[in-house]
Amino acid sequence: MSKIKKIGVLTSGGDAPGMNAAIRAVTRTAIYYNLDVIGIRHGFRGMIEGYFKPLKAHTVSDIIQRGGTILKTARCPEFKTKKGRKRAYGNLKSMNIDGVVVIGGDGTFTGAGIFSEEFNIPFIGIPGTIDNDIYGTDVTIGYDTALNTVVEAVDKIRDTASAHNRLFFVEVMGAEAGFIALRSGIACGAEAILIPEEKDQVTTLKSFLEDGFRRKKSRNIIIVAEGDEGGATEIARKLKKDFKDYSMRVTVLGHIQRGGSPSVFDRVTASRLGYHAVEALMDGQNSAMVGIQDNEVVLVPFRKAVKLNKDVNRELLEISKILSI
Ligand code: F6P
Repeated sequence: MSKIKKIGVLTSGGDAPGMNAAIRAVTRTAIYYNLDVIGIRHGFRGMIEGYFKPLKAHTVSDIIQRGGTILKTARCPEFKTKKGRKRAYGNLKSMNIDGVVVIGGDGTFTGAGIFSEEFNIPFIGIPGTIDNDIYGTDVTIGYDTALNTVVEAVDKIRDTASAHNRLFFVEVMGAEAGFIALRSGIACGAEAILIPEEKDQVTTLKSFLEDGFRRKKSRNIIIVAEGDEGGATEIARKLKKDFKDYSMRVTVLGHIQRGGSPSVFDRVTASRLGYHAVEALMDGQNSAMVGIQDNEVVLVPFRKAVKLNKDVNRELLEISKILSI
């Protein structure tokens, strides 16, 4: 018999399309099992400050299609302190919360993992970040929607790039990872994709462009991951020295990648993971993330999810180089 009678749910770190679908799934699964649900607003800051509000089935109506998060989110340095976590624990106890579902990225799981070691309230994580850079899960909520946003924007940029015969450097998000860049680059037929997982790419890019220009191949789109060698602006500056008579422009897509209505894939992923997160709490699980591997839901300990590195798909990387000749 589960000891879980009341759960909390929060969103933390960079928001991602699909977080609301996950909040909805957590809330409705918990209510299905006659649990009470407390929404914790503004992430871990809300847990420390006591920003709690009850969630009912109707509270999460009409949100599955909305980007952002109805619970708001925040980055919370205070939760990195024992004092902050102790205040949070005191609030959870006074609210009689028996377990918490945290929706966020690796920073969120790092904090949740430390909390779980210090206090006897279980935390289960749902990977919600557009970066898709979390070990132990093939996909994170928001990644698919962000990819579609990038490709829609780059398809438009390609129109003007080819009209002016310009070379466009398009910078995409991903913190220190190239997942968004690699897959969106393939999908929009980019002539080159620069990611932090590959070193010294500017040199490679120079010879690649020289070869293309020799063959009169119109080179229009280069996708640059934001964490790569200073980003698109810096890379374009370096290249301009060698291709003075070539017209170049830079577009930094920025936070548009974090918004928009979640894709079907992200809504279904969020619904699956929200359901399994509540099941995991009820099964007595703690300090772990629900993830998806080969389309199966798995449980991955926080200490592995945050410590181990997830590499980009090397097959896709190879294909991207061949298809852009
Ligand atoms: O982690 C998601 C993310 O969008 C990264 O891709 C990006 O580098 C970062 O958040 C931006 O953080 P902020 O929203 O705090 O500017």
